[in-house]
Amino acid sequence: AEFQEQHRPQFHFTPPSGWMNDPNGMVYHNGEYHLFYQHNPDSTVWGPMHWGHAVSKDMVDWEHLPIALYPDSLGAIFSGSAVVDVNNTSGLGTKENPAMVAVFTYHNAEAEKAGRNDFQTQGIAFSLDNGRSWTKYKANPVLKNPGIRDFRDPKVIWYEPEQEWIMALAVKDHISFYSSKNLLDWKLESDFGANVGAHGGVWECPDLFKMPVEGTDEEKWVLIVNINPGAPNGGSGTQYFVGDFNGSRFVLDPQFQADLNARPVIAKVVNGQEGIWLDYGRDQYAGVSWSGIPEEDGRRLFMGWMSNWDYANVVPTEKWRSAMTVARKLELVNTPAGLRVASKPVKELENIYGASESLEEQTVSNVLAISEKLSFNPVTYDLQLDLKPVGPQSSFAIELSNEKDQKVLVGYDVSRGQYYIDRTKAGDHSFSDKFSGVQYAPRLSNDASFDLRLLVDVASVEFFADGGKTVMTSVFFPDEPFTRVRLVPGQGRLKLDSGKITNLKSIYS
Ligand code: FRU
Repeated sequence: AEFQEQHRPQFHFTPPSGWMNDPNGMVYHNGEYHLFYQHNPDSTVWGPMHWGHAVSKDMVDWEHLPIALYPDSLGAIFSGSAVVDVNNTSGLGTKENPAMVAVFTYHNAEAEKAGRNDFQTQGIAFSLDNGRSWTKYKANPVLKNPGIRDFRDPKVIWYEPEQEWIMALAVKDHISFYSSKNLLDWKLESDFGANVGAHGGVWECPDLFKMPVEGTDEEKWVLIVNINPGAPNGGSGTQYFVGDFNGSRFVLDPQFQADLNARPVIAKVVNGQEGIWLDYGRDQYAGVSWSGIPEEDGRRLFMGWMSNWDYANVVPTEKWRSAMTVARKLELVNTPAGLRVASKPVKELENIYGASESLEEQTVSNVLAISEKLSFNPVTYDLQLDLKPVGPQSSFAIELSNEKDQKVLVGYDVSRGQYYIDRTKAGDHSFSDKFSGVQYAPRLSNDASFDLRLLVDVASVEFFADGGKTVMTSVFFPDEPFTRVRLVPGQGRLKLDSGKITNLKSIYS
């Protein structure tokens, strides 16, 4: 059967075959969520980039469509975004049938080989039939390269107050903001970031959006900046900044600036990197959000690539390589550390809910075998636990394992005050010496109770702690599926206040 190979995720998006990296051009239009992606159809390793394409009515069940954008004489098609030009500012569609416009980076490998520095430029393409067929704009590129090697990944948004488009572009060690009235002519407005945040690698794949601040009437702007390498647990990761954007400049929130300055205190234990991170796991990268979400919905919806450039090209899958995370809803919430972006799986995940079992309220002093006597085989599931230590705080872990005693631990380390994912014994890691190891993330809650949620697929876990204030995503490659789930207290005992494990049905069934 299709999509049943070893390690093939059953509810995460994967390409049918070939290589995939970043999500691109995520846009909602006429009842469909579009997902484009960096794709090399001819090989399972990175190569000449195309935009692969899929659509979904719920961001869970995806229909694969033909490749949307092919390389051309200007270069391969690197990452970028898509918008619906509702006011027909570009003249590429009509008001009645507005164009879907993709804005992407052309990467000219020949020019790079020839030793030039201006091989990355921005181009556009448009579709008048819901993304089914695409025409490249005749006067590409729309933004030429000023002589900077890293000049890519345009994220375009509509800035209502000025009735103009804003492009956030990753330029080596900063983000440049450009403005345009028509998506065709772009003017540089400002640069942000050369002196703030994490700079252990190149800045890539930015995103910029406004969000309500939980519990207030206030709104703030969030600037997402992906970076590779330089993530807190190594390799690639997603940092973000909270501030204000006035149509030309992004200014850091003073409190967020102070939080960043205070970082080393926390960062010391998280591998000495500065920055505030959307997901501390090893395997969420290039994450950005959907455009075109209707106002009455109002959610900020996000998806990332579930891999890491440290080993993405060599993970042990055969026909295809890598998956996306589940779609997540972002929120700006208060934490003891300050305002932070929290992530939760979208509620549409319930569309694939299968059998479900509740765990009894109980005190756990030894090991709780969660997977015993379930009505389903736990390979793909949603596990939710609400627990607290009896007495002083202590460490604990949720252990996913198989008969071969391969395992992944998702837990809390009381001595560090941090969550962790340990995949040192998780199965095959022979493909890369950077894969095995323990990943850590700060806990951003002082609650006595731990509210934990794990989405487990065949080859990955997404861990949402304290309502998504701490998120960790990690992949693994066991010889046999992890069908054993156990709650393992550390020195102390745990009070399990509530728990529930729900089977997630395969999107291919
Ligand atoms: C991020 C990235 C982008 C680039 C794309 C190329 O993972 O390096 O900066 O556009 O991948 O595939």
